[in-house]
Amino acid sequence: MASRRSLGVVLWVVLLPLALPTEVPVGQELVTKGLQDYFHTGVAPEYLADALHQNQFPFLFRDGMENVYDNPTVCYYCNLAVDLVIGERLLGLTAETLAKEAEYLCVHLGIESRRVCTGVIDLNLDVFLYIIDNYPNITSNRICGSVLQGLGCPAGDAFEWSIDLPSGNSPERPKPNDTNPETFNVLQLSDIHYDPNYVPNGNADCGEPICCQGDQGEPNSTETTCGYWTDYRDADVPWHLVEETIRQTKTQEFDYVYYTGDIISHRVWETSVANNTWTIAQLYSYFKDTFDVPVYPIFGNHEPHPLDLWPTESVLDEQFSVQWLFELAAQSWSELVGEDISETVLKGGYYTVSPRPGFRIIAINSNLCYCYNWWLIFDDVDPYGQLQWLADTLKQAEDNNESVHILSHIPTGTGESLSVWGREYSRIIERFSNTITGQFNGHTHKDQFHVYYNSSNPSQPVGTVFNGASLTPYSLSNPSYKLYQVDSTTFSLRDYEEWTFNLTLANSQPSTESPQWYKLYSFVEAYGVDSLDPVEVDKVLYKMAQDHTLLDDYFTFKFRNGDPGVSPGCDDACKKDNLCQIATTVYGDATHCNRFLTLYDQ
Ligand SMILES: *[C@@H]1O[C@H](CO)[C@@H](O)[C@H](O)[C@H]1NC(C)=O
Ligand SMILES: *[C@@H]1O[C@H](CO)[C@@H](O)[C@H](O)[C@H]1NC(C)=O
Ligand SMILES: *[C@@H]1O[C@H](CO)[C@@H](O)[C@H](O)[C@H]1NC(C)=O
Ligand SMILES: *[C@@H]1O[C@H](CO)[C@@H](O)[C@H](O)[C@H]1NC(C)=O
Ligand SMILES: *[C@@H]1O[C@H](CO)[C@@H](O)[C@H](O)[C@H]1NC(C)=O
Ligand SMILES: *[C@@H]1O[C@H](CO)[C@@H](O)[C@H](O)[C@H]1NC(C)=O
Ligand SMILES: *[C@@H]1O[C@H](CO)[C@@H](O)[C@H](O)[C@H]1NC(C)=O
Ligand SMILES: [Zn+2]
Ligand SMILES: [Zn+2]
Repeated sequence: MASRRSLGVVLWVVLLPLALPTEVPVGQELVTKGLQDYFHTGVAPEYLADALHQNQFPFLFRDGMENVYDNPTVCYYCNLAVDLVIGERLLGLTAETLAKEAEYLCVHLGIESRRVCTGVIDLNLDVFLYIIDNYPNITSNRICGSVLQGLGCPAGDAFEWSIDLPSGNSPERPKPNDTNPETFNVLQLSDIHYDPNYVPNGNADCGEPICCQGDQGEPNSTETTCGYWTDYRDADVPWHLVEETIRQTKTQEFDYVYYTGDIISHRVWETSVANNTWTIAQLYSYFKDTFDVPVYPIFGNHEPHPLDLWPTESVLDEQFSVQWLFELAAQSWSELVGEDISETVLKGGYYTVSPRPGFRIIAINSNLCYCYNWWLIFDDVDPYGQLQWLADTLKQAEDNNESVHILSHIPTGTGESLSVWGREYSRIIERFSNTITGQFNGHTHKDQFHVYYNSSNPSQPVGTVFNGASLTPYSLSNPSYKLYQVDSTTFSLRDYEEWTFNLTLANSQPSTESPQWYKLYSFVEAYGVDSLDPVEVDKVLYKMAQDHTLLDDYFTFKFRNGDPGVSPGCDDACKKDNLCQIATTVYGDATHCNRFLTLYDQ
């Protein structure tokens, strides 16, 4: 250890200029110098903790933080720290020392509690080191630019590839028969995040990524006591709410269930293969036993251990493999969908089936494109060959005159979805716009939708995607599910209903009483359009730009009327933000955002 350090000091005199970023943010000289000293010597200078306490980044890695921080400063520190680690690693930095240094920073920057910092670092450190040891000439831009894409950290031209698409367009599909609209229903459930550790009456003011856990102490007042059904304050779903929800959905009619991912709770610092396996198997077998129709599941980013991480075949170390998860899914999904789909599931967690003539479901594993999937740093080019498979599968569907629904956990277009992946996915949606009649997302826990536009004819809508919102309230939302009405001949979406209950009210009543579920809205009624076809949904954006009260409704629906979610209200900036989100499917492409904002401001 000592020799590594003294050798390090000598070499750093030579290498230092490389690691010294040119523009130190104003007032950050002390932190910069302190970090450099710390990483070079392995000993934190005394002033560093104080300097870091002046620079707090609570919950930096939780959702939505891109709006909270001065992003150039975060990018600066990311590049600084990563460059220092890369440099020191070449000089023999050990996993133990790095773990200690990372924990020190995590705790002193106030990012999470100590045990969360320690747990998350332990889970991820080997992956990080594997990547910097094995990726040729790794740069901090490649790391910070992908993981912190949403904060606008520069990635250079590091992520650039495309997939092959057949030329032309898919032919026009038959139109729905308005005089005899035969339909069937599809139930979409999403983001259950079943939490075996949930304790009713637990502590809802816990300061960790998930509350209401048995080991977070007693609540110190009734205001901070977790409810019976679940809790708005960063809690997930106890088993009795899973049962209650399925009981409720079964009072309605549907032919199929789409489950758009995320089963594991947000106790992200303490996952294990054994516990994830148990929880996942528990939910799938409950689906199998209670639904008497096929269930089409996909993976969420929370299913692997550690969460978010999907190594490809180019990662040669077996310890990182997710094969256990693919095997678990190959078997349970085959049972749920009613046919053997194991071949492609074992390859990458995706599959396709045709539940009835003329109709095809394509289920993909879009968690690969999630920026917190560190393996993208190592290998970002169409992981698992999935997008190429998607394009090829859609071509076959087109040739067979089939209509297709795509299930995909993570929406494209947000800062957390790798931009190049979203762009290529959007090209596929455009090319096969007549074949694809429905797309379904989860992940954000918000009731949202997006419109895809023709890249060479910006005002032409070519697709839509609907988010199933979530059963978990995490955060600030009421639990919910969606029931779609699907045309029986064209398989286009005619409408959906969103069902929910008031969690405040449910928790205020005796636990023996079921929550009072109600229909929050139907899309067609709420927005005054004919169907969920892209041309109709596109009209909603023009209406919203003109009649801003529709964006108040959208905001309310987003949280399914959840009291703490809707109570701040949605001002002009919030409305514009929502309008832009609806119109954005490729992160960094503001074409449609700008188009609608111009109309909004008129
Ligand atoms: C890595 O950098 C070295 C030295 O600059 C260069 O010779 C080599 O070609 C680079 N390797 C790759 C794979 O880019
Ligand atoms: C629509 O349905 C009506 C009633 O079943 C039928 O008479 C008509 O032929 C259908 N039209 C088309 C275009 O299929
Ligand atoms: C209640 O607990 C929270 C955190 O657990 C703490 O911040 C707060 O000061 C406590 N309030 C009282 C009145 O003890
Ligand atoms: C994992 O499962 C074991 C055995 O059921 C249980 O004791 C432990 O609390 C679980 N850990 C977590 C984090 O859920
Ligand atoms: C698809 O539809 C076209 C036009 O209606 C028809 O010519 C073709 O035979 C159909 N293909 C299949 C596989 O059904
Ligand atoms: C997109 O627009 C171009 C240019 O107008 C047109 O050629 C193409 O057919 C359109 N694509 C679709 C899917 O309609
Ligand atoms: C939910 O129920 C609570 C308790 O009855 C009530 O105060 C609140 O206004 C309700 N929220 C909505 C959005 O109706
Ligand atoms: Zn998710
Ligand atoms: Zn989720």
